[in-house]
Amino acid sequence: MKTLSKTLFGGLKALERQLKRDEWATAKYTIILDENTFQHCLPLLISGVEALQEAEFVEVPAGEECKSLEVAAQVWQTLIDGGADRNHVLVNLGGGSVCDLGGFVAAGYMRGIRHINIPTTLLAMVDAAIGGKTAIDFGGIKNSIGHFYPASLTIIEPTFVATLPQTEVLNGKMEMVKTAAVTNPDLYAVLLANDSIPLNAIKETVRIKESIVKADPYDHDIRHILNFGHTFGHAIEVHAHLPHGIAVGIGMLAAMYLSVKKTGLESAIYHDYSMWLRRYVDIPHFTLHDIEPMLDLMHHDKKNAAASTQCVLLQALGAAMIDVEVSDNEVRDALLSITRQP
Ligand code: GLY
Repeated sequence: MKTLSKTLFGGLKALERQLKRDEWATAKYTIILDENTFQHCLPLLISGVEALQEAEFVEVPAGEECKSLEVAAQVWQTLIDGGADRNHVLVNLGGGSVCDLGGFVAAGYMRGIRHINIPTTLLAMVDAAIGGKTAIDFGGIKNSIGHFYPASLTIIEPTFVATLPQTEVLNGKMEMVKTAAVTNPDLYAVLLANDSIPLNAIKETVRIKESIVKADPYDHDIRHILNFGHTFGHAIEVHAHLPHGIAVGIGMLAAMYLSVKKTGLESAIYHDYSMWLRRYVDIPHFTLHDIEPMLDLMHHDKKNAAASTQCVLLQALGAAMIDVEVSDNEVRDALLSITRQP
Protein backbone atom coordinates (compact mmCIF):
# COMPACT_ATOMS: atom_id res chain seq x y z
CA MET A 1 0.00 0.00 0.00
CA LYS A 2 1.14 3.55 -0.76
CA THR A 3 1.86 4.99 2.69
CA LEU A 4 2.71 8.66 2.17
CA SER A 5 -0.40 10.44 3.39
CA LYS A 6 -0.81 13.85 4.92
CA THR A 7 -3.84 15.81 6.15
CA LEU A 8 -3.67 19.61 5.94
CA PHE A 9 -6.12 21.67 8.01
CA GLY A 10 -5.18 24.97 6.39
CA GLY A 11 -7.65 24.45 3.56
CA LEU A 12 -7.07 25.65 0.01
CA LYS A 13 -4.32 28.04 1.12
CA ALA A 14 -2.35 25.08 2.46
CA LEU A 15 -2.95 23.21 -0.81
CA GLU A 16 -1.70 26.19 -2.80
CA ARG A 17 1.54 26.18 -0.78
CA GLN A 18 1.90 22.40 -0.96
CA LEU A 19 1.53 22.16 -4.74
CA LYS A 20 4.41 24.62 -5.20
CA ARG A 21 6.76 22.05 -3.63
CA ASP A 22 9.21 20.05 -5.75
CA GLU A 23 7.36 16.74 -5.57
CA TRP A 24 4.39 18.31 -7.41
CA ALA A 25 6.41 20.48 -9.82
CA THR A 26 5.78 18.46 -12.99
CA ALA A 27 2.38 17.06 -12.06
CA LYS A 28 -0.72 17.51 -14.21
CA TYR A 29 -4.13 17.32 -12.60
CA THR A 30 -7.64 16.04 -13.29
CA ILE A 31 -10.38 17.14 -10.90
CA ILE A 32 -13.29 14.74 -10.27
CA LEU A 33 -16.42 16.56 -9.12
CA ASP A 34 -20.21 16.37 -9.15
CA GLU A 35 -22.81 18.96 -10.08
CA ASN A 36 -22.88 20.38 -6.53
CA THR A 37 -19.15 20.80 -6.14
CA PHE A 38 -18.88 22.05 -9.72
CA GLN A 39 -21.18 24.89 -8.77
CA HIS A 40 -20.21 25.62 -5.16
CA CYS A 41 -16.59 24.52 -4.71
CA LEU A 42 -14.76 24.49 -8.05
CA PRO A 43 -14.65 28.31 -8.40
CA LEU A 44 -12.98 28.60 -4.99
CA LEU A 45 -10.53 25.84 -5.83
CA ILE A 46 -9.52 27.25 -9.20
CA SER A 47 -9.16 30.80 -7.95
CA GLY A 48 -7.30 29.74 -4.80
CA VAL A 49 -4.85 27.18 -6.16
CA GLU A 50 -2.70 28.30 -9.07
CA ALA A 51 -1.46 24.80 -9.96
CA LEU A 52 -5.04 23.70 -10.67
CA GLN A 53 -5.94 26.51 -13.07
CA GLU A 54 -5.05 24.37 -16.09
CA ALA A 55 -6.57 21.18 -14.67
CA GLU A 56 -9.01 19.07 -16.69
CA PHE A 57 -12.19 18.18 -14.86
CA VAL A 58 -14.63 15.28 -15.08
CA GLU A 59 -18.16 15.62 -13.75
CA VAL A 60 -19.68 12.46 -12.29
CA PRO A 61 -23.20 11.81 -10.89
CA ALA A 62 -23.72 13.09 -7.34
CA GLY A 63 -23.92 10.62 -4.45
CA GLU A 64 -23.63 6.84 -4.45
CA GLU A 65 -24.55 6.70 -8.16
CA CYS A 66 -21.01 7.71 -9.13
CA LYS A 67 -19.52 4.61 -7.48
CA SER A 68 -19.96 2.30 -10.48
CA LEU A 69 -17.60 0.45 -12.78
CA GLU A 70 -19.10 2.40 -15.70
CA VAL A 71 -18.26 5.78 -14.15
CA ALA A 72 -14.79 4.57 -13.15
CA ALA A 73 -14.24 3.44 -16.76
CA GLN A 74 -15.34 6.86 -18.05
CA VAL A 75 -12.76 8.56 -15.85
CA TRP A 76 -10.03 6.09 -16.93
CA GLN A 77 -10.96 6.75 -20.58
CA THR A 78 -10.71 10.51 -20.01
CA LEU A 79 -7.26 10.04 -18.48
CA ILE A 80 -6.10 7.89 -21.41
CA ASP A 81 -7.58 10.29 -23.99
CA GLY A 82 -5.73 13.16 -22.31
CA GLY A 83 -2.42 11.25 -22.31
CA ALA A 84 -2.20 11.09 -18.51
CA ASP A 85 1.01 9.39 -17.36
CA ARG A 86 2.08 8.03 -13.96
CA ASN A 87 2.85 11.56 -12.79
CA HIS A 88 -0.79 12.56 -13.24
CA VAL A 89 -2.75 13.42 -10.09
CA LEU A 90 -6.48 13.03 -9.44
CA VAL A 91 -8.10 15.67 -7.27
CA ASN A 92 -11.31 14.41 -5.66
CA LEU A 93 -13.56 17.39 -4.92
CA GLY A 94 -16.69 16.13 -3.23
CA GLY A 95 -18.25 14.05 -0.51
CA GLY A 96 -17.48 10.48 0.46
CA SER A 97 -18.74 9.02 -2.84
CA VAL A 98 -16.45 11.18 -4.99
CA CYS A 99 -13.49 10.41 -2.69
CA ASP A 100 -14.27 6.65 -2.80
CA LEU A 101 -14.56 6.68 -6.61
CA GLY A 102 -11.53 8.91 -7.18
CA GLY A 103 -9.33 6.81 -4.91
CA PHE A 104 -10.49 3.66 -6.70
CA VAL A 105 -9.70 5.15 -10.12
CA ALA A 106 -6.29 6.39 -8.91
CA ALA A 107 -5.40 2.99 -7.44
CA GLY A 108 -6.06 1.25 -10.76
CA TYR A 109 -4.72 3.72 -13.28
CA MET A 110 -1.26 2.64 -14.47
CA ARG A 111 -0.95 0.56 -11.29
CA GLY A 112 -1.46 3.59 -9.10
CA ILE A 113 -1.19 7.36 -9.42
CA ARG A 114 -1.35 9.99 -6.70
CA HIS A 115 -4.66 11.45 -5.59
CA ILE A 116 -5.66 14.36 -3.40
CA ASN A 117 -8.91 14.29 -1.42
CA ILE A 118 -10.69 17.60 -0.90
CA PRO A 119 -13.74 16.47 1.07
CA THR A 120 -16.60 18.95 0.86
CA THR A 121 -18.94 17.37 3.41
CA LEU A 122 -18.30 17.04 7.12
CA LEU A 123 -18.95 13.30 6.87
CA ALA A 124 -16.20 12.89 4.29
CA MET A 125 -13.79 15.17 6.21
CA VAL A 126 -13.94 13.09 9.36
CA ASP A 127 -14.35 9.63 7.85
CA ALA A 128 -14.45 8.70 4.14
CA ALA A 129 -11.54 10.88 3.00
CA ILE A 130 -9.24 9.58 5.75
CA GLY A 131 -7.75 6.13 5.96
CA GLY A 132 -7.33 4.90 2.40
CA LYS A 133 -10.53 2.92 1.88
CA THR A 134 -11.60 3.28 -1.75
CA ALA A 135 -14.42 1.41 -3.46
CA ILE A 136 -17.15 1.15 -6.02
CA ASP A 137 -20.44 -0.73 -5.69
CA PHE A 138 -20.73 -3.90 -7.78
CA GLY A 139 -23.04 -6.91 -8.02
CA GLY A 140 -25.65 -5.05 -5.98
CA ILE A 141 -23.27 -4.80 -3.01
CA LYS A 142 -22.06 -1.49 -1.64
CA ASN A 143 -18.26 -1.07 -1.56
CA SER A 144 -17.76 -4.62 -2.88
CA ILE A 145 -14.75 -3.81 -5.08
CA GLY A 146 -11.97 -1.60 -3.82
CA HIS A 147 -8.53 -1.11 -2.40
CA PHE A 148 -6.72 0.32 0.58
CA TYR A 149 -5.04 3.20 -1.19
CA PRO A 150 -4.53 6.38 0.87
CA ALA A 151 -4.62 9.83 -0.66
CA SER A 152 -1.27 11.59 -0.84
CA LEU A 153 -2.95 14.65 0.63
CA THR A 154 -6.28 15.30 2.30
CA ILE A 155 -7.27 18.95 2.50
CA ILE A 156 -9.69 20.10 5.19
CA GLU A 157 -11.28 23.40 4.15
CA PRO A 158 -13.50 24.43 7.07
CA THR A 159 -15.43 27.03 5.04
CA PHE A 160 -17.06 24.20 3.11
CA VAL A 161 -18.81 23.09 6.33
CA ALA A 162 -20.43 26.52 6.64
CA THR A 163 -22.08 26.08 3.22
CA LEU A 164 -23.68 22.72 4.06
CA PRO A 165 -27.39 22.27 4.86
CA GLN A 166 -28.08 21.52 8.55
CA THR A 167 -29.04 17.89 7.85
CA GLU A 168 -25.71 17.32 6.13
CA VAL A 169 -23.84 18.83 9.09
CA LEU A 170 -25.77 16.53 11.44
CA ASN A 171 -24.93 13.58 9.22
CA GLY A 172 -21.20 14.29 9.66
CA LYS A 173 -21.54 15.11 13.34
CA MET A 174 -22.93 11.62 14.01
CA GLU A 175 -19.71 10.05 12.66
CA MET A 176 -17.72 12.42 14.89
CA VAL A 177 -19.80 11.36 17.91
CA LYS A 178 -19.17 7.73 16.95
CA THR A 179 -15.39 8.19 16.81
CA ALA A 180 -15.46 10.05 20.11
CA ALA A 181 -17.70 7.46 21.81
CA VAL A 182 -15.23 4.64 21.17
CA THR A 183 -12.04 6.56 21.93
CA ASN A 184 -12.34 9.87 23.74
CA PRO A 185 -14.94 10.73 26.43
CA ASP A 186 -13.83 14.40 26.53
CA LEU A 187 -14.41 14.92 22.80
CA TYR A 188 -17.73 13.06 23.14
CA ALA A 189 -18.80 15.51 25.88
CA VAL A 190 -17.78 18.52 23.76
CA LEU A 191 -19.75 17.26 20.77
CA LEU A 192 -22.91 16.60 22.77
CA ALA A 193 -22.64 19.95 24.53
CA ASN A 194 -22.26 22.09 21.38
CA ASP A 195 -24.76 22.65 18.60
CA SER A 196 -22.00 23.98 16.36
CA ILE A 197 -18.94 22.05 15.22
CA PRO A 198 -15.72 23.51 16.67
CA LEU A 199 -12.80 23.25 14.21
CA ASN A 200 -10.73 21.70 16.99
CA ALA A 201 -13.27 18.90 17.26
CA ILE A 202 -12.88 18.19 13.52
CA LYS A 203 -9.10 18.16 13.93
CA GLU A 204 -9.28 15.85 16.93
CA THR A 205 -11.65 13.45 15.16
CA VAL A 206 -9.33 13.28 12.14
CA ARG A 207 -6.29 12.81 14.39
CA ILE A 208 -7.99 9.92 16.20
CA LYS A 209 -9.03 8.26 12.95
CA GLU A 210 -5.50 8.61 11.55
CA SER A 211 -3.99 7.00 14.63
CA ILE A 212 -6.42 4.06 14.45
CA VAL A 213 -5.70 3.63 10.73
CA LYS A 214 -1.97 3.72 11.42
CA ALA A 215 -2.35 0.95 13.98
CA ASP A 216 -4.50 -1.23 11.69
CA PRO A 217 -4.35 0.04 8.09
CA TYR A 218 -6.02 -3.06 6.59
CA ASP A 219 -8.94 -3.20 9.00
CA HIS A 220 -8.08 -6.52 10.65
CA ASP A 221 -8.87 -5.73 14.29
CA ILE A 222 -8.67 -2.42 16.19
CA ARG A 223 -10.00 -0.41 13.23
CA HIS A 224 -13.28 -2.34 13.69
CA ILE A 225 -14.10 0.01 16.58
CA LEU A 226 -14.94 2.60 13.93
CA ASN A 227 -17.90 0.39 13.01
CA PHE A 228 -19.65 1.28 16.27
CA GLY A 229 -23.34 1.81 15.42
CA HIS A 230 -22.81 0.64 11.85
CA THR A 231 -24.20 -2.92 11.92
CA PHE A 232 -27.55 -1.56 13.13
CA GLY A 233 -26.95 1.66 11.18
CA HIS A 234 -26.64 0.02 7.76
CA ALA A 235 -29.85 -1.94 8.28
CA ILE A 236 -31.65 1.23 9.44
CA GLU A 237 -30.20 3.22 6.49
CA VAL A 238 -31.58 0.71 3.97
CA HIS A 239 -34.88 -0.04 5.71
CA ALA A 240 -35.85 3.50 6.79
CA HIS A 241 -34.18 5.30 3.85
CA LEU A 242 -32.25 7.58 6.16
CA PRO A 243 -28.93 9.32 5.42
CA HIS A 244 -25.89 7.30 6.51
CA GLY A 245 -24.80 9.44 9.46
CA ILE A 246 -28.32 9.78 10.88
CA ALA A 247 -28.84 6.01 10.59
CA VAL A 248 -25.51 5.43 12.36
CA GLY A 249 -26.64 7.86 15.10
CA ILE A 250 -29.72 5.67 15.67
CA GLY A 251 -27.60 2.52 15.33
CA MET A 252 -25.36 3.79 18.15
CA LEU A 253 -28.42 4.10 20.38
CA ALA A 254 -29.29 0.43 19.72
CA ALA A 255 -25.66 -0.57 20.32
CA MET A 256 -25.58 1.40 23.59
CA TYR A 257 -28.82 -0.27 24.69
CA LEU A 258 -27.17 -3.67 24.20
CA SER A 259 -23.96 -2.41 25.81
CA VAL A 260 -25.88 -1.69 29.03
CA LYS A 261 -27.26 -5.25 28.96
CA LYS A 262 -24.16 -7.13 27.82
CA THR A 263 -20.91 -5.25 28.42
CA GLY A 264 -21.54 -3.18 31.53
CA LEU A 265 -22.07 0.31 30.07
CA GLU A 266 -23.59 2.64 32.68
CA SER A 267 -27.27 3.12 31.86
CA ALA A 268 -26.93 6.92 32.36
CA ILE A 269 -24.72 7.07 29.23
CA TYR A 270 -27.47 5.40 27.19
CA HIS A 271 -30.17 7.68 28.63
CA ASP A 272 -28.17 10.89 28.09
CA TYR A 273 -27.34 9.92 24.51
CA SER A 274 -30.96 9.01 23.87
CA MET A 275 -32.14 12.44 25.13
CA TRP A 276 -29.50 14.19 23.01
CA LEU A 277 -30.27 12.22 19.84
CA ARG A 278 -34.03 12.82 20.10
CA ARG A 279 -33.42 16.58 19.97
CA TYR A 280 -32.21 16.19 16.39
CA VAL A 281 -33.60 12.95 15.00
CA ASP A 282 -37.01 11.27 14.85
CA ILE A 283 -36.36 7.65 15.75
CA PRO A 284 -38.43 5.45 13.39
CA HIS A 285 -40.94 3.13 15.03
CA PHE A 286 -39.86 -0.42 14.21
CA THR A 287 -42.33 -3.30 14.44
CA LEU A 288 -41.37 -6.99 14.62
CA HIS A 289 -42.49 -7.19 11.00
CA ASP A 290 -39.97 -4.43 10.03
CA ILE A 291 -37.18 -6.04 11.99
CA GLU A 292 -37.11 -9.37 10.11
CA PRO A 293 -35.65 -7.96 6.83
CA MET A 294 -33.33 -5.79 8.92
CA LEU A 295 -32.02 -8.93 10.64
CA ASP A 296 -31.36 -10.39 7.20
CA LEU A 297 -29.35 -7.29 6.28
CA MET A 298 -27.42 -7.50 9.53
CA HIS A 299 -26.59 -11.18 8.98
CA HIS A 300 -25.28 -10.30 5.56
CA ASP A 301 -23.47 -7.19 6.67
CA LYS A 302 -19.96 -7.51 5.24
CA LYS A 303 -18.48 -7.08 8.70
CA ASN A 304 -20.04 -10.39 9.79
CA ALA A 305 -18.22 -13.51 8.68
CA ALA A 306 -21.18 -15.90 9.00
CA ALA A 307 -24.94 -15.71 9.42
CA SER A 308 -24.69 -14.15 12.85
CA THR A 309 -24.62 -10.61 14.04
CA GLN A 310 -21.48 -9.23 15.60
CA CYS A 311 -21.42 -5.70 16.93
CA VAL A 312 -19.05 -3.23 18.46
CA LEU A 313 -20.32 -2.53 21.99
CA LEU A 314 -19.11 -0.24 24.76
CA GLN A 315 -17.91 -1.10 28.26
CA ALA A 316 -17.61 2.62 28.91
CA LEU A 317 -17.15 5.73 26.80
CA GLY A 318 -13.71 5.33 25.24
CA ALA A 319 -13.64 1.56 25.86
CA ALA A 320 -15.07 -0.44 22.96
CA MET A 321 -15.30 -4.21 22.49
CA ILE A 322 -15.25 -5.50 18.92
CA ASP A 323 -16.97 -8.61 17.50
CA VAL A 324 -19.46 -9.12 20.31
CA GLU A 325 -21.93 -11.86 19.31
CA VAL A 326 -25.51 -10.62 19.39
CA SER A 327 -28.52 -12.95 19.08
CA ASP A 328 -31.51 -12.21 16.87
CA ASN A 329 -33.69 -11.76 19.97
CA GLU A 330 -31.25 -9.20 21.37
CA VAL A 331 -31.40 -7.29 18.06
CA ARG A 332 -35.23 -7.37 18.19
CA ASP A 333 -35.21 -6.21 21.82
CA ALA A 334 -32.83 -3.32 21.03
CA LEU A 335 -34.73 -2.09 17.97
CA LEU A 336 -38.11 -2.26 19.76
CA SER A 337 -36.74 -0.59 22.89
CA ILE A 338 -35.04 2.42 21.32
CA THR A 339 -38.32 3.63 19.88
CA ARG A 340 -39.61 4.08 23.44
CA GLN A 341 -38.60 7.17 25.38
CA PRO A 342 -36.02 6.28 28.07
N1 GLY B 1 -15.23 4.12 7.98
C1 GLY B 1 -14.55 3.21 8.79
C2 GLY B 1 -13.13 2.98 8.40
O1 GLY B 1 -12.57 3.75 7.64
O2 GLY B 1 -12.55 2.02 8.81
